[in-house]
Amino acid sequence: MISKNYTVKYKVPFSDLLPIYEEIKDELTPAIEKIYKKGDFILGESVKLFEQEFADYCGAKYAIGVSSGTDALFLSLKALGIGLGDEVIVPAYTYIATAFAVTYTGAKPVFVDINEDNYCMNMDCLEKAITENTKAIIPVHLYGQSCNMNKLKNIATKHNLKVIEDAAQAHGAIYKPLNKRVGSIGDLGCFSFYPSKNLGAFGDGGIITTNSEELYKKVFMLRDCGRINKYEHIIIGRNNRLDTVHAAALRIKLTRLDKWNELRQKSADYYNSLLKDVQEVVTPKVSEYSSHIYHVYAVRVKNRDNVINHLRQNGIGALIHYPIPLHLQKAYESLGYKQDDFPISEKVASEIISLPMFPHITKEQIELVVTTIKESF
Ligand SMILES: Cc1ncc(COP(=O)(O)O)c(C=O)c1O
Repeated sequence: MISKNYTVKYKVPFSDLLPIYEEIKDELTPAIEKIYKKGDFILGESVKLFEQEFADYCGAKYAIGVSSGTDALFLSLKALGIGLGDEVIVPAYTYIATAFAVTYTGAKPVFVDINEDNYCMNMDCLEKAITENTKAIIPVHLYGQSCNMNKLKNIATKHNLKVIEDAAQAHGAIYKPLNKRVGSIGDLGCFSFYPSKNLGAFGDGGIITTNSEELYKKVFMLRDCGRINKYEHIIIGRNNRLDTVHAAALRIKLTRLDKWNELRQKSADYYNSLLKDVQEVVTPKVSEYSSHIYHVYAVRVKNRDNVINHLRQNGIGALIHYPIPLHLQKAYESLGYKQDDFPISEKVASEIISLPMFPHITKEQIELVVTTIKESF
């Protein structure tokens, strides 16, 4: 059992976003003031500029700012015309929004197991899950590294399926065989700007990337009430816009994203070196085909609940991403999955721990986390 009774103040928080704010605040204050003075709150200049800058950063032709990562996935599915009677394949082990977005369209999420080494979708399982109703695949670049996109795209092409990359946790990660950033490889790429993401807004936000002009035009209308001008609406759209204030902050942060990702990578290397000889801990394995931007630094241990209790009781902000795989979530009971359907997802969910990871984490903080883990064995 994981204890919920923690009275200790964190010595090492799971994430600390204040140093990021300190770093950008001199640029942020005038940017916000400019929006206020112009009254440029909705789809303002910063949104347009950020969309182009983010598209360029990813190596995609287009980007459309939206209200969250979940909405990015939903609008992408809608733009592809996916709905009732369709099936969309998603990993059994991811954040639940990946599957919820499918359910919101009326289509059915079909789960497949993951790899034990990089926690991304298993491509052999993927091909077996395809039926005549399958319309799309959503690979999730989990924790910050890319799925095996060449294998996935070959399968998608063979079966005439669309690919929506869920890159909510992988801003800037590179799929090495194509030398491309994630989000520029599938038909559409979806990112979340939830505040603690590697690129985070000051609240909810997201973006969709694509190289297709047709999909760009569809998503562009879908996210803004299906309009072609203020009061002319040609499709049923939604209010799923990215706010100008978020875009202004994101523009400033985007210029530092690579530097912050490198700091995370250095911290991950330091964790790895300190945990190298600790037999009880499985450290992250980086696939030869991907870089890793460590949105999450996840380790696995057999006696997970004891270890996480010990960490939390000693002021270390450890979390679990994710304790329950999607096929065993109550919300998806009606799909009829059962225990043992996806053994790797279930094993990983029972052993995983996310350790504190943020760009400005110090060596001393990492040392304290590792010492505390060692004490728990
Ligand atoms: C893999 C994945 N997909 C989708 C989402 C949904 O993003 P948001 O919280 O911005 O709606 C998240 C957010 O945590 C995520 O981690």
